[in-house]
Formats: sequence, structure tokens, C-alpha cells
Amino acid sequence: MTASLWRDRIVVPDAGGLSRAAALLRSGSVVAFPTETVYGLGADAFDEKAVGEIYRLKKRPTWNPLIVHVADVAAARALAADWPDTAEDLAARFWPGPLTLVVRRASHLPGIGASNDTVAVRVPAHPVALDLLRASGLPLAAPSANRSEGISPTTAEHVVRSLPDVPMVLDGGPCSWGIESTVLDLTGDVPRLLRPGALSLRVLRDAAGPIALPGPGVEDGADRSSPGMSRRHYAPRARVVLCEDVLSVDRSGLTEPIAVLSYEGTDGTEILSADPREYAADLYAALHRLDDEGYPTILILQPPRTEDWLAVRDRLSRAAA
Ligand code: TXA
Ligand code: MG
Repeated sequence: MTASLWRDRIVVPDAGGLSRAAALLRSGSVVAFPTETVYGLGADAFDEKAVGEIYRLKKRPTWNPLIVHVADVAAARALAADWPDTAEDLAARFWPGPLTLVVRRASHLPGIGASNDTVAVRVPAHPVALDLLRASGLPLAAPSANRSEGISPTTAEHVVRSLPDVPMVLDGGPCSWGIESTVLDLTGDVPRLLRPGALSLRVLRDAAGPIALPGPGVEDGADRSSPGMSRRHYAPRARVVLCEDVLSVDRSGLTEPIAVLSYEGTDGTEILSADPREYAADLYAALHRLDDEGYPTILILQPPRTEDWLAVRDRLSRAAA
């Protein structure tokens, strides 16, 4: 598709843009919108046909359920069959924000994707997302607005390039976190981390106490309690190779030219911050850029093995799988 055609799908989220987007959603269509983490592809969570359109556009396997976005805690409670005290505490502390809570699903809400009895919910912190939730009056099921397994979009342009058939993208500028929300399962005795993300474990533990961690390398769809954690995910077109040392890595099997993604204090083609939050904010945009530049190989220097880098290391290992 030519640039002029897809640029028409990118809409300014002023009063007119928001009311057009809300009308599309109410008529059973899908709309992409910014959140503080990444852009989402939204549809009315109660409209199974509209939700089906998300799966079709993304080519997402149907066993992988979607996060439902709501405007406030009351709207989240209304989608849950059971709202534990931990959910109430965490919501009060971190919403609006990049934390997704998995709870028992209310029976009037259709199963979003996989036919399990839970629902993942969050209140996003982006003003445009909140405006859209209020303007539409709907809970919005929304995965990241990229083709399944691709890199999540952190700008409106990333969305239209990954999903050329998307009817509309509200343009809220670049996402401030740039990495997906942390997903926490509250259906068991102990909160369980399903996906490390923007909200750090340290901060979560301070609020929730002990948190059970997932095992490494969950095979594709094998662990249905955490269906989205397939090994290959968040991947650019280029082959991604991780290394502990850029200079000593064996490059003989790698197709040239090789882009090197590293962080401050080291050499590279693309250099990101040595601060994990800043690195995460720029990571996907850097991968999109290196893909656009046509590098067949991206060599990435592994960040330190500390908990602060957990979410970034998780995404890097999936990009390389
Ligand atoms: O930051 C984010 O979370 C972004 C923005 C748009 O909100 N959304 C996002 O959605 O990353 P998605 O679909 O790309 O990832 C959702 C993750 C997947 O790993 C999925 O398997 C998991 O949440 N998930 C959704 N519903 C679930 C449920 N009921 N039980 C367990 N995991 C669930
Ligand atoms: Mg995604």
C-alpha cells in the first residue's frame, strides 16, 4: 500500500476523531489506539464478531486470549466473577497503569479467545485510551496492534505498517513505556507472574508480597495458563542473535550486513540507554528501524542478568527464538 493511503488511516484524537472512533467501535468494527505501553487493536469485548475481527487482522491463534481495557476499577469489577482483595489493592495502587490482572470471568462476558473461565483486565494510563473508553462506553478487548509474533507498535505508523487493513488508528504519539504491561494471575493462592512487563517485579512485590514466577522457555502454547508466552514472539523480520560480548561473538554463520544493538558504554549500530526503563522505551522503535533499513541480522548485546532487566531480557529472548 502506498504511504498516502495508509496515512489516511491515522487520525488525530481530537473530539471529531474520538467520536468517529467510538462510532466505529459501537458498529462492531475495530480501532487501534495508543496506550502508555504499546498501541492496542480494540473491539467491543461483548461483541464476539468484532473480537473475531481482531484475531483475523492480527492472524492471532484463537487459543491466545486478549486483555480487556476498561475506564475504571468499577468497570473491571463488573467483568469479574470474583474480585479478590489483592485485585482491589493493586488496582488502587497501580491503575491507571501498565499492570494487567487475571481474575475469574463474569459469566455474562464472552470468553475472549480461549474458552477458559478467566479474564485479563487493565485500566490504561494514556489519556487517548481513557477518552476512547469513555466516548465509546465499551470495555475494549485489545491486544498489541501488530501482526501475531511481530514487534509491538509504539507509534501509529508502526501500526499501519504491521496491519495495513486496520480501519483507523488514533495517533497519540510515541508510547511512553514502550513495552507491554506486566500480567499477573490472581486466580490462585499466590499471585503469579504470567508476563514480566513495564511494571517491575520489585515494585509489585512491595505491594503484593511474594509472587510466583513462570518457568523459562515455555513452548508454543504448551502452558495454557499463560497462553501468550510462546517462545517466538516480539520478533523483527531480521534474524536476532543475542550475545554476551559483541567483539568476541562468532560471526561466521551470520548474514551480512549485521546491525549491532547495544547500550551506552559499548559500540554498536544502534545504541540505547543503559537504564532499563529508557532502554525498554526505545527498544521496539529501534528494532522497527533496523528492519526498515533491511539488515538481515541484528546482533544484540544482552543486558545485565538483574531483575530490573527482566522484561527486556524476556522480549529479547523471544525475539531471538
Ligand atoms: O501493554 C499491554 O498489555 C498491551 C496494551 C495494548 O494494553 N496489550 C498486550 O496484549 O500486550 P497482548 O494480547 O499482545 O498480550 C496479552 C497477554 C498475552 O500473553 C495473553 O496470553 C495474556 O496477556 N492473557 C490475556 N488474557 C489472559 C487470560 N485470561 N489468562 C491468562 N493470560 C491472558
Ligand atoms: Mg502482543
